[in-house]
Amino acid sequence: MNSSVSAIILLLCGIFGGVWGYTIPQGPADAVRRGVAINTTRAGFLYGPAVAGGPLYPSGPLGKAKVAADIGNEQLETTPNSLLVAEDTARASSSTEQYQGLDTFEEYLLLYQGQWAKTLPKGPAPGLLTNYTQDLFFSMERLANSAFSVRRLPRSSELPFQVDYSTVSKVTGSSLSLQKLLQDGRLFYADHRAQASWPRTTNKFAAACDAYFYMSKRGQFLPLAIRTNVGSNLIYTPIDEDADWTLAKIMFNVNDFFFAQTWHLAATHEIVQIAWMAAIRTLSIEHPIYALLDRLTYQLFAIQPLAQSFLFDNGTAFDTLFPITGTGARDFVTELYFNGTGSFKEGYFETDLQKRGLINGDGPKLKHFPYYENASTIHKAIRSFMRTFVRSFYKSDRAVRGDPELQAWATEANGPAKAIDFPSKFDSVDELTDALTHIAHLVSTVHHSVNTNNLLSISATLPMHPASLYRPVPTTKGITSVAQYLPPLQAALAQFQVDGLFARPLIANSTRSLSYMFDSPTFLNGTNRETRTAAAEFKEAMFTFSKQIRSRTFNRDGLSQGAPFIWRALDPTEAPFSLTI
Ligand SMILES: *[C@@H]1O[C@H](CO)[C@@H](O)[C@H](O)[C@H]1NC(C)=O
Ligand SMILES: *[C@@H]1O[C@H](CO)[C@@H](O)[C@H](O)[C@H]1NC(C)=O
Ligand SMILES: *[C@@H]1O[C@H](CO)[C@@H](O)[C@H](O)[C@H]1NC(C)=O
Ligand SMILES: *[C@@H]1O[C@H](CO)[C@@H](O)[C@H](O)[C@H]1NC(C)=O
Ligand SMILES: *[C@@H]1O[C@H](CO)[C@@H](O)[C@H](O)[C@H]1NC(C)=O
Ligand SMILES: *[C@@H]1O[C@H](CO)[C@@H](O)[C@H](O)[C@H]1NC(C)=O
Ligand SMILES: *[C@@H]1O[C@H](CO)[C@@H](O)[C@H](O)[C@H]1NC(C)=O
Ligand SMILES: [Fe+2]
Repeated sequence: MNSSVSAIILLLCGIFGGVWGYTIPQGPADAVRRGVAINTTRAGFLYGPAVAGGPLYPSGPLGKAKVAADIGNEQLETTPNSLLVAEDTARASSSTEQYQGLDTFEEYLLLYQGQWAKTLPKGPAPGLLTNYTQDLFFSMERLANSAFSVRRLPRSSELPFQVDYSTVSKVTGSSLSLQKLLQDGRLFYADHRAQASWPRTTNKFAAACDAYFYMSKRGQFLPLAIRTNVGSNLIYTPIDEDADWTLAKIMFNVNDFFFAQTWHLAATHEIVQIAWMAAIRTLSIEHPIYALLDRLTYQLFAIQPLAQSFLFDNGTAFDTLFPITGTGARDFVTELYFNGTGSFKEGYFETDLQKRGLINGDGPKLKHFPYYENASTIHKAIRSFMRTFVRSFYKSDRAVRGDPELQAWATEANGPAKAIDFPSKFDSVDELTDALTHIAHLVSTVHHSVNTNNLLSISATLPMHPASLYRPVPTTKGITSVAQYLPPLQAALAQFQVDGLFARPLIANSTRSLSYMFDSPTFLNGTNRETRTAAAEFKEAMFTFSKQIRSRTFNRDGLSQGAPFIWRALDPTEAPFSLTI
């Protein structure tokens, strides 16, 4: 057997077979012994060009074998899923009478009646069908299902745009200027101006909005103004006529949806991809961290080729549904990745939220922050597991510093892999725990809060979240029909069909769910009793959390976590334990 074939077998064994008793290198002789196999892997698992933008992508015989294995696993999972989507799409497409022509805004709700039940068994997020036009619905989405574009403006900021005193006072119901809100640390901002100058698809339109949100006297997080940045660059506020303001919120949503989806590729898939490639080339398959990453990166390399062929290629999802072409969207992802979104440590859960002033900010605390509140439950549980796992192999910080494979991972990531902002070395148990926790967080809480089941249930629901406008951005206020700007029937159904392919209804209550992140017989086989206990505790904590999420209802004010919708995307019995497209 030549060495490259046996290395493929070894690598795939690491992937499918489990290795009994993971170990870190036990002294120089052991390191040399392990080094032989690692060198064989290095010779066959190479860095190749990006496939769908972003960082480098596997190549070489071992790289290609691993990609093929991931694609195989991914197809096993998505094939039955795609059949459900096909059934739902067929049913929805043959129910056209039900939609009454979609010529009013409200008729878009008919798209949900008795439809999409296979792909979205529980239907859209509770509250959506009744409360979708509320301002609080729109603003609280920024703190729940689309929590990565908004930030608090630091008190010393220059205001990105002006809104006059009388308008701000009317909107806020108190004598307030924008400057005063800023000084009080109660002004928030989301900026999608970067979307203005990318290649456009035909007959679909979008603004490139930036927007202010504010914290009211009662502590509610509400929208203040939306500026379009195209055409006559209108600034809309909640005191505009209903139709104008509703369209403004939709225009912002179009941009925010494009951002969330392109951002998630750079911020989750691509960051983990490059970290895992560096690990494959430096850690023995006997190494506990290899085994852990192998578990967390299930199907990972399948996503870039799939994104290219299903989202970016000419004539596929972006070209058909979005205002920016597939090529433009792919380049946008790459630009985001290299602009900062691809930074590893900068994206740590609390580091990121703190940098954006959403926690421990320079101003009053957000009264409700569904993404943070609920992601932190999962994040804490992940960290607790990781600490036990790391401690079971490294008795001290010195042991961490003394593991040549682990240190080689950091060197490799910062060297030939060109990962961004990855730890340059691992000095302590805590530092290693943080890095591993972050990877698990990216593949679960971050990804599924913006993608997966979240799209069909809230983030891509109609009429408020079309992928594009179907008329040019207005140059004056006073529109009479919002529906004219919305996707016509075929485009609406195409949007749901694509979003359906991201949903994972078959994972609910299965061992593919987030609760089972560490509870894999193959993975646990090589760990010690403490780690197995910690995995069981993690699963129990997730079951408990899921019960809380499932029992969530509206309070007397018709709110849940301060929002007029119930956000359940992070139910760990429904969300997967790893990335999905
Ligand atoms: C692995 O390759 C490196 C770089 O070529 C070399 O320095 C090292 O001695 C090799 N290790 C073993 C165990 O062959
Ligand atoms: C990347 O950063 C530059 C400079 O700040 C900015 O002009 C550009 O719009 C950013 N690109 C994206 C995709 O955000
Ligand atoms: C895709 O479209 C772009 C822009 O229209 C064009 O430059 C490119 O050649 C097309 N690619 C293929 C493979 O057809
Ligand atoms: C998963 O199981 C729980 C508890 O048995 C149940 O309430 C829930 O509806 C199930 N979820 C799905 C999607 O079947
Ligand atoms: C656990 O390891 C043992 C010993 O190598 C092996 O025989 C067994 O198949 C493994 N079990 C799993 C579930 O991987
Ligand atoms: C939101 O919708 C739910 C369900 O329709 C309703 O019970 C609740 O009162 C609504 N909340 C608000 C603030 O309107
Ligand atoms: C989710 O966040 C809300 C606070 O808005 C809290 O009441 C609830 O307990 C959290 N759920 C869990 C399980 O942490
Ligand atoms: Fe994804």
